[in-house]
Amino acid sequence: MTGAARERPPLEGAGWRRAGRRYACPLLVRRFPPEVPFGFLGKVAPPSSAVDLRLEARRIPPGRALEIVHGARAVAEAELIGGGAGAATPELEVERRSAEELGHAVAGRSQELWHVGLCWVAAGPSRPRAEAARQRLAERLAALGFQTRVPRYEVAEALAAPGRSAGAARPSGYWQTLTTDGLGALYPFGDETVLEPGGVLVGLSLSDASPVFLDRWSHASHSWGLFGTTGAGKSFAAALTVLRSRWMRPETEVIVLDPLGEYSGLVRALGGTVVRLREDGTGRLNPLDPATTAGDRREKAGRVVTMLRALWPSLQDEEAASLDAAVSRLYDRPGPEPTFGALADELARGGAAAGRLPALLEVFRSGSLRRSDGPTTLNVEARTVSFDLAGVPDDQLPFHLTYVLDWTYHRLSSRPGPKLVLLDEAHLLSRHAGTTEFLDRTVRHLRHYESGLLLVTQNPDDFLGSPSGRSLLRNLSACAFLRLQEVSEACRGFFGLSDPEAEWLTKARLPTDAGYAESLWRVGAWHLPLAIVASTPEYELLTAALRGEPLPDGPGPGAVGRGGL
Ligand SMILES: Nc1ncnc2c1ncn2[C@@H]1O[C@H](COP(=O)(O)OP(=O)(O)OP(=O)(O)O)[C@@H](O)[C@H]1O
Ligand SMILES: [Mg+2]
Repeated sequence: MTGAARERPPLEGAGWRRAGRRYACPLLVRRFPPEVPFGFLGKVAPPSSAVDLRLEARRIPPGRALEIVHGARAVAEAELIGGGAGAATPELEVERRSAEELGHAVAGRSQELWHVGLCWVAAGPSRPRAEAARQRLAERLAALGFQTRVPRYEVAEALAAPGRSAGAARPSGYWQTLTTDGLGALYPFGDETVLEPGGVLVGLSLSDASPVFLDRWSHASHSWGLFGTTGAGKSFAAALTVLRSRWMRPETEVIVLDPLGEYSGLVRALGGTVVRLREDGTGRLNPLDPATTAGDRREKAGRVVTMLRALWPSLQDEEAASLDAAVSRLYDRPGPEPTFGALADELARGGAAAGRLPALLEVFRSGSLRRSDGPTTLNVEARTVSFDLAGVPDDQLPFHLTYVLDWTYHRLSSRPGPKLVLLDEAHLLSRHAGTTEFLDRTVRHLRHYESGLLLVTQNPDDFLGSPSGRSLLRNLSACAFLRLQEVSEACRGFFGLSDPEAEWLTKARLPTDAGYAESLWRVGAWHLPLAIVASTPEYELLTAALRGEPLPDGPGPGAVGRGGL
């Protein structure tokens, strides 16, 4: 024990210990169920739960192991002969037989016996929270047939770090005897499938076709990334994810930021509204409307400068400063909803320092962006909405995406329930530091609003080059890599991809060749090679919807939306 620790020992109670600000509540296994399914840990302690498992295993020498097995068999036989009558007899018979089988396995060295010490530790920032987490854990374990116990007054022994020798004091009943298979089931990576209850099917394992489900809502961040070269199947996979997410939770709201206008058919199939910003019909979304920051005019002024700098990346310093000042004046003054006309008037008062700005702002008065000049009239009630930017000039896309993202952020923060945002061609927001920062900030806050982003872009390098881009990527709880042209050193390092994985990704099969998309999913410590496969009805619906063709007969949109219409 260090001097510092002696001065301020951790507080300890009957069934808990406090170290710093964390409370730890241990839980021991008193009795194992007859069978433990491989991968049961995912159910008992999903990555989102504040639960650790500490495991110590000591191999029992084969000679001693055989003695133990023979002893167990002899006990079962004696009890059977000695009149273990009634209900217990079949159980004893099973015990005798399994001891016999185990004896053969141990003699043949296909199984060994292990002394296994197991301690679950539920943690929390307060004692009630940690105890509640332990209680929930005990209930999940009980549902799988485990009998557990709280080591009251033996917390120190339960939580002591594993020593190199077997001599450390442990609570009574801590050591259990398990076979190699039993021990193997306690390892989280022994399972071929990742089953997150309530999750959506993301793919089939490429090694054995076992299905893999992920539940974005059970992770701290609900946002995912999809990366892949052109034609790798990103948009299809994103649409499939939206569809399956809706199936699992029909109340999920979906917002699609759709630079190429690919998702309009799908959104209509889901009974949603397609907003085409360049056309009359759905109303105007005023990029300057302070409603998107709930009336916080200063915050809105900052976002307006970001979106305009994305529109005019070549602004000189003085022009940028004039713009900033004019926008601030416009928002500092209480008054009606600012418009681009009002901004142009404000700039005119700034005089010569405005440089080219008055000429640039003409685009909102008489040019291609004139539909954006005026108060907001857009009112979307549908639970599925897409912003279809097809036909928007490439150099205007970051501008449109930024204020639509601003609108989206407000929508997410002001409506209850789960919400999913699909941002395709996300690289458009990585071109400018300001828009990347805004996107990063949005993703960091999404979790507070029960919302997740599906970020779709061709190359992770689009975002790896800037601090806010990397921060954004760090906040994705799952990343799917489809075929990549190349995997940069930066990408390998950042995502912890091995050389064989990086090599494989450049050769992953394309959907046009294979009928499915090969992919590598990175979820926490897992790296899962998966086939992204659609069922026939899903495939028919998605290909028709994504191509804007009439939807196939059959289930039809009613079945797609299950409550979504
Ligand atoms: N998992 C899949 N199963 C069957 N077909 C698929 C699958 N994924 C994609 N496809 C088909 O492959 C083609 C290309 O897919 P998609 O448009 O999704 O690629 P992308 O990665 O989004 O390309 P881009 O970068 O050009 O947008 C489409 O015709 C699509 O229908
Ligand atoms: Mg695409």
